[in-house]
Amino acid sequence: MTDVFGSSQKDVHEQVVFCADEQSGLRAIIAIHNTALGPGLGGTRFYPYESESAALADVLNLAKGMSYKNALAGLDLGGGKAVIIGDPAHDKNEALLRAYGRFVQSLGGRYVTACDVGTYSEDMDIIARESRYVTGRSPAYGGAGDSSILTAFGVFQGMRASAERVYGTPSLHGRRVGVEGVGKVGHRLVELLREDGAEVVICDVAPKAVERVRLRHPEVEVVADAAELTGSDIDVFAPCALGGALDDATVSRLRAKIVCGGANNQLAHPGVEKQLAERGILYAPDYVVNSGGVIQVADEIEGFDMERARSKAAQIYDTTLKIFQIAADEGVPPAVAADRLAERRMSEVGRIRGIWLGR
Ligand SMILES: NC(=O)c1ccc[n+]([C@@H]2O[C@H](COP(=O)([O-])OP(=O)(O)OC[C@H]3O[C@@H](n4cnc5c(N)ncnc54)[C@H](O)[C@@H]3O)[C@@H](O)[C@H]2O)c1
Repeated sequence: MTDVFGSSQKDVHEQVVFCADEQSGLRAIIAIHNTALGPGLGGTRFYPYESESAALADVLNLAKGMSYKNALAGLDLGGGKAVIIGDPAHDKNEALLRAYGRFVQSLGGRYVTACDVGTYSEDMDIIARESRYVTGRSPAYGGAGDSSILTAFGVFQGMRASAERVYGTPSLHGRRVGVEGVGKVGHRLVELLREDGAEVVICDVAPKAVERVRLRHPEVEVVADAAELTGSDIDVFAPCALGGALDDATVSRLRAKIVCGGANNQLAHPGVEKQLAERGILYAPDYVVNSGGVIQVADEIEGFDMERARSKAAQIYDTTLKIFQIAADEGVPPAVAADRLAERRMSEVGRIRGIWLGR
């Protein structure tokens, strides 16, 4: 049974809303974790959860993750997330999305939604017909469009910061970088790496994804799978597929000095961050380096400007370096340092809202 009110202070969610509309078949849960920095922003996941409790556990976990990600991205936004229970291929329809939009609107801006697994910009355009609190719409509606552009850019900045820390130079020229998963984020990362003069080796379970990269970059090496990639002679490992890429077996086989990639939830279980540190592998925390996407869609709230969003995403370089420094100073792995820095900002900046503004 999921503990809705949380077992520790950090796990407490401010608000959890269950939404149902019988006619359209909508069953959704919106979780707002923390609004110390601003409205909770996070995407809507449309997924065929096997049970309501699995959906609830996921949305609580994801909403908390967004509080930390948004805090470290320097945004005036808190953490929130939503799930719609169902198979997007069969269950998604206009009425359902609009009904969902009305529930988002009913929260009065405490939660701002965006795309996630199973939802796309076109869905956000439909939800936006019922709610003002939507980002990640398509460019035709003034939206930020495909967030993988700045996600990949941000991962690249995090990788440059990691190279600076390990090699004393941010350049990846001549380094051998292994990219697991060359989908929306991974293939853009390959572009940036090649422009910087890195050697790139990739793997992907989808032959089409591999083909797309090889068409533009025939020089890129392809290996069979993640096991071969992580066991090969690479300097940097960039997980850009699904979560859990760093498990015990992978960490013990890894020859890279740096792990920095776009995938969410890369650490398969708590404790992996320590194993990486013990093996002398620098881990750039996933939610720090992959925050370019949320920076891109958050910018839409002000009226989207790609150059402004890009310069904000460029700051991921400094944030990553700062986290490495805190980790060294406090003798903790970077993942722990990142959490501490996020909590510090939520507490310090969140506190100023207590200053009385007058009538
Ligand atoms: N798109 C964004 O803006 C964004 C933002 C933040 C985080 N992320 C995270 O980045 C990761 C990639 O996102 P995306 O948008 O590129 O998704 P995507 O679906 O476009 O790409 C994922 C790629 O990984 C491949 N893949 C799946 N399993 C694999 C395996 N076992 N080995 C090798 N390749 C495998 C898929 O075939 C696909 O090509 C996800 O974890 C996502 O949550 C994405």
